[in-house]
Amino acid sequence: MLFCAAQGPEGDVSTVMKADGRVRRVVLVDDEPVILQILSAVLEDGPWEITACGSAAEARKVLRSDGVDVLITDKNLPDGNGLELLKLAREVNDLAEVIIITGYANLETALTAMELDAFDYVLKPLNNVFDIRKKVQRAVDKQDLALENRRLLEDLRAKNIELTAALKETQQLQSELIQSEKLAGIGTLAAGIAHEVSSPLFGIMGLAEAITDEERLDLCHEYARDIVEYSRTIRDIVKELSSYSRASSAEYLTTVELARVIEDAVRLVERSADCRGVTISVDVAPQTFVQARTSEVQQVFVNLVKNAVEAIEDRDAGNGKVTVRAGVSDGRVWATVEDTGAGIPSDRLNLVFDPFYTTKAPGKGTGLGLNIVYRIMAKHRGQVSVESTVGKGTRFTLSFPITG
Ligand SMILES: Nc1ncnc2c1ncn2[C@@H]1O[C@H](COP(=O)(O)OP(=O)(O)OP(=O)(O)O)[C@@H](O)[C@H]1O
Ligand SMILES: [Mg+2]
Repeated sequence: MLFCAAQGPEGDVSTVMKADGRVRRVVLVDDEPVILQILSAVLEDGPWEITACGSAAEARKVLRSDGVDVLITDKNLPDGNGLELLKLAREVNDLAEVIIITGYANLETALTAMELDAFDYVLKPLNNVFDIRKKVQRAVDKQDLALENRRLLEDLRAKNIELTAALKETQQLQSELIQSEKLAGIGTLAAGIAHEVSSPLFGIMGLAEAITDEERLDLCHEYARDIVEYSRTIRDIVKELSSYSRASSAEYLTTVELARVIEDAVRLVERSADCRGVTISVDVAPQTFVQARTSEVQQVFVNLVKNAVEAIEDRDAGNGKVTVRAGVSDGRVWATVEDTGAGIPSDRLNLVFDPFYTTKAPGKGTGLGLNIVYRIMAKHRGQVSVESTVGKGTRFTLSFPITG
């Protein structure tokens, strides 16, 4: 075997390397040492490394161990076949180019080689040796082009993935934008205020009626205190209308203890809605605080608990459970309101936060409760999400940032 490694002149290094940084390898295979010597000499000083092999067996070994970019092989070797080496070259490098050396008599086989996608062929005896160098250079150029195409295709695929992700994100943003635009309507706001005022108002009415029949003074005092509390809630909700046009209402934020607000909200729902046969349990970790407006956090829980109670009525009157939990984990304050009610079909889940979306009978629901929840959570940089199984129940999850 004859081995000769050659590299382009200094300063021409860029052409030696392939796009992937490897030096290009030209493998010569012929059983006649003189042919190998001529080819090695002709190709010397080119932008490649040359490995010369005197047999098919040797060539197979080289192809497998070192790889190949351009294979120049005799068609007929005593221990093998040039076409079989062509296939092996393509197995180790699918972009490998192959030039077949053949005698005049075998021109037909050369044509078969071309059909097998050999790059070119060279006839023996080697009359025009410099032509061979040109053919190798052309094979190398073709390979460069294929590599570049492949790189562009990969870039294109990566860009396509990026674009698909960006499109998804834009669609998400767009739907959020539509949602917030929907909320901007003053009509929605006014209707929302009416909706929110109705719960504490019913609470007040119930308590006032109770006072009229109540003979125990201590209970009358307790009911009166609750009436004051609910009146304050109504005052805060109405105030919201006047502060609507102002940019920020940050000055109203206070530290709100969730355990207290949830307890008040549950009490309010129990007084204003029909909770017969519904067990409401509360499990809130102590010291769970959020920075917000108390009346707004209360509105959130009133709406969620009221919906939960109503969902149980829809399914199985007199036998259901609502559980409210809250705590702190992973740098967020979270709360869940879970019920064993009728559930929400999966194709309706994305509608429940829309203003005026309701499945309740006319006059029974306005479809604003969850929209108000969404709005309040967004205002406090919080999130609300919903999971549900029809016939099993629903869980709303809130998440607030920890502030202060
Ligand atoms: N816990 C729940 N279980 C099952 N469905 C629910 C639940 N909460 C909300 N929904 C569905 O979402 C709809 C919208 O709720 P939302 O609170 O916004 O309005 P509403 O309850 O219909 O009316 P309103 O709040 O004025 O009483 C409901 O009509 C109901 O179909
Ligand atoms: Mg509701």
